Amino acid sequence: MYDLDSRSARLVESAWSGKIEVLISAEQLQKRNAELGRMITSDCAGRDLVLVGVLKGSFLFIADLCRRIELPLTCDFLGVSSYGNETRSSGIIRITSDLKRSIEGKDVLVVEDIVDTGLTMRYLMENLQTRRPASIKICALLDKPARRQVPTRIDYLGFTVPDVFVIGYGLDYKGRFRNLDYIGTIEEA
Ligand code: IMP
Ligand code: MG
Repeated sequence: MYDLDSRSARLVESAWSGKIEVLISAEQLQKRNAELGRMITSDCAGRDLVLVGVLKGSFLFIADLCRRIELPLTCDFLGVSSYGNETRSSGIIRITSDLKRSIEGKDVLVVEDIVDTGLTMRYLMENLQTRRPASIKICALLDKPARRQVPTRIDYLGFTVPDVFVIGYGLDYKGRFRNLDYIGTIEEA
């Protein structure tokens, strides 16, 4: 029924009665992480680099990406809530957990799971700018340009996705499916 290995199928069956299709495989994700890591390594050499992971969606991406960046760096995290249980952006963004250290004078790379409307990224960029970092760049695993409301400059992009709701590799639907090691799409049964 699902074109997935048995572990994934078990995870899915317990949580979802509809169909899941693989959009980006685990192998494709890891290959792209290595490429992004190489680009960031060469661009950011000599910088005082801080990776800022946007929780919860980016937790797997930042974990894999940071191991592909061959530079001294620190990691910090921002908890952001914009969705509740819906698949559409509410446009209301809330910081649920703040950075633990100052980013003043640092070269910040914001690591995000997906840029959809762009509302979250606009809010984050405005917020982080007030903390006077030396620079801020954006690394997003996924870009869904079809739904953009705010122009967003993505410096490092994993993949562009069509206008479908995606899950897995950190991304959720109603809190679930974050633990899949691939990006999939869901469809109601
Ligand atoms: P934006 O503010 O509309 O750009 O949305 C940003 C946030 O919405 C992302 O960081 C995700 O957490 C969530 N999001 C947007 N599209 C999807 C999706 O297709 N699947 C899962 N989460 C999504
Ligand atoms: Mg997110």
